[in-house]
Amino acid sequence: MPLSLRFVVPLALALAAIAYAVVPLVDRLTFQWFVRDLDARGALIAQTAQEPLAELMGSPRGSRTRVLRYFERIMHGERIYALGFCDLREQLLYATSAFPKAVGCSASGEPEGRNWVLQLADGPLHVSANPVSYEGTLLGQLMIVHDMSFVQRRSEDTKKYVLWLFAAIAAVVALITVVIAEISWRGWVAGLTALLSGETLLRSPLGFKGTAPELRPIARDLQSLLRDIESERRTRDESQTTWGPDALRRILRQDLKGDEVLIVSNREPYIHVRRKDNVIDIQRPASGLVTALEPIVRACSGTWIAHGAGNADRDTVDKHDHVMVPPEHPSYRIRRVWLSPEEEQGYYFGFANEGLWPLCHIAHTRPVFRAPDWEHYQTVNRRFADVVADEARTEDPIILVQDYHFALLPRMVRERLPRATIITFWHIPWPNPEAFGILPWREEVLDGLLGSSILGFHTQFHCNNFFDTVDRFLEARVDRETFTISYGGNPTEVRRYPISIEWPPAALQVQAPVPECRTRVRQRLGLAADVKLGVGVDRLDYTKGILERFSAIERLLELEPRWIGQFSFVQVAAPSRSSIEEYQNLEARVRALAARINERFGRPGYTPIVLRIEHHDAAEVYELYRAAELCVVSSLHDGMNLVAKEFVAARDDEHGVLILSQFTGAARELAEALTINPYDIEQSAAALHLALGMSPDEQRARMRSMRHLVQEFNVYRWAGRMLIDAARMRHRRRVMARTRAARREAGAA
Ligand code: G6P
Repeated sequence: MPLSLRFVVPLALALAAIAYAVVPLVDRLTFQWFVRDLDARGALIAQTAQEPLAELMGSPRGSRTRVLRYFERIMHGERIYALGFCDLREQLLYATSAFPKAVGCSASGEPEGRNWVLQLADGPLHVSANPVSYEGTLLGQLMIVHDMSFVQRRSEDTKKYVLWLFAAIAAVVALITVVIAEISWRGWVAGLTALLSGETLLRSPLGFKGTAPELRPIARDLQSLLRDIESERRTRDESQTTWGPDALRRILRQDLKGDEVLIVSNREPYIHVRRKDNVIDIQRPASGLVTALEPIVRACSGTWIAHGAGNADRDTVDKHDHVMVPPEHPSYRIRRVWLSPEEEQGYYFGFANEGLWPLCHIAHTRPVFRAPDWEHYQTVNRRFADVVADEARTEDPIILVQDYHFALLPRMVRERLPRATIITFWHIPWPNPEAFGILPWREEVLDGLLGSSILGFHTQFHCNNFFDTVDRFLEARVDRETFTISYGGNPTEVRRYPISIEWPPAALQVQAPVPECRTRVRQRLGLAADVKLGVGVDRLDYTKGILERFSAIERLLELEPRWIGQFSFVQVAAPSRSSIEEYQNLEARVRALAARINERFGRPGYTPIVLRIEHHDAAEVYELYRAAELCVVSSLHDGMNLVAKEFVAARDDEHGVLILSQFTGAARELAEALTINPYDIEQSAAALHLALGMSPDEQRARMRSMRHLVQEFNVYRWAGRMLIDAARMRHRRRVMARTRAARREAGAA
């Protein structure tokens, strides 16, 4: 409220109170004082006049003229309006000329006399009837009439004085109050603003020390209360929501008021590839990131900015490098970004996949950092930041930045769109500070990420590693209570958002019943109808523990020969990053190990390990999941691993056993899986044996519980939580902007 209003409003209230309560009271009191005064004066005059009057009326020489003359004398001296005399028969015997008829003689017989006020059209009259006796005998009443209009005049004057007096007092009091209130209001506003924005906490090394002293006791309570309310509301809202595309659309419409959403990732969700016969195919890449994000973008109808990596990608975009997808039912668009072969080599294969990937996974493959790769990484991040700014139709879009390919992008986008809400999600693990510390450009990478408004990881463990890393290498304020890092201005909230899959998965809709899948898959793979089947589905990547998995199968067949001929394992491996030497070596080793095991235990009609190093589409993968007795996820380190969740989602028959590495994010959620340490070959072999012999009841109990979890915590919830947090952040920023504007206005007033 502007200062002038803060002054005028209390003053107006005070004046209204004076006009409607104080003035009438004062008026009534002054009138009563005058009436009492006239009563006393009447009695005094009557007492003085009684004897002469009685004598005048009783004397033989008494005449009407002499009585009236006497009345005139009294009136002259006492400023009386009229006089009269009433006898005991209520007859007005004598009266001066102005004596009003309305006064009458009704009080004649009253020995004590009487006083009253008579309201006439010209104004009030005070009438006093006073007994007149002569030698003990009551003769009648002397009627004294005073004109009270002077009382009315004085009362008007008094009212005016009182009004002005009180108005002056009210003005002074209001002024003093406003000045005092203003001083403390500014203090409070400043305190609360700082408190709510976290500035105070972030500024002061002792947290609340920077808060105004009188606010300190409630500051802590207030902030923790706000946090509690917020998290309680969030949990309640979250658990009561049925998470699906509609829930996401509702959040976008209601919480985010239809704000613009842009997604940035390296890998595009649809790749156009020209075949040898010149026909263009559309491929869906094997990427957990794409699997998770695609249903979200469909629901948001946003724009997905990604590297156009397919050899027919340029032929399928419009002049703005846009292409609408999905092909069968277009609902969002991809904006393709073009990279030269050198840029792709340096940024993607080099810095991202030979540097950051092994650095973060700690799968005992040495990261390689080359200065030219770093140059390309910076250039490409900058190119994407320009494209984001180019695509944004508003000043403050919501930008979902994906993964380790874009560690520098958040800061670069922040420079171009300072009001954007940037949510960065790191899909892979975050290592401890010692491991991260070997990165030659560690400060730059951390600085880039801290351009984000929200930075998400799959697990709290990875969040904590990130806090430790920032603490170690940057001059930043790390608040582990509010999960906030403040570095160079904007705070970044670091949160855990475990990713998931869509529920029910689209690929499940086209599946045949489980027995049919079993038969078909066994026929296709050339396996006996009754052989038990295990399945592994991965990109061909050294972090996935494929070699360890094969070794465990070999050990099982050694330890439990009864499974020879009775158990086969199909490994689907999508070729990945194949121009990197490590990946080429891995492929060779995987092929060799599978061949060795097959040679050792295989026989005509029986292949222990069926290896398929080729791309499979989702429907084929889901058929495999449904045909298998067990699924093995043996990653040496994995942010989440969505294969584990897909297997669970595929088993609507509630059968099948999941063997899951303890080093995946998924293991934190899917507690009913058989958990293994993939480096422990004996243990993994034992888990395979246990899974193959597990009773249908136990399988059902475990599977049911895991299905429930994946259904409830699906990918819509993952995205929804981030969007809700973004909406909350944007709302808070608007409130803070309003508060600051009010402060500025108050300061200017
Ligand atoms: C992981 C990464 C993703 C990546 C995917 C496939 O899931 O977190 O960012 O897209 O692997 O790898 P690629 O290099 O083929 O995109």
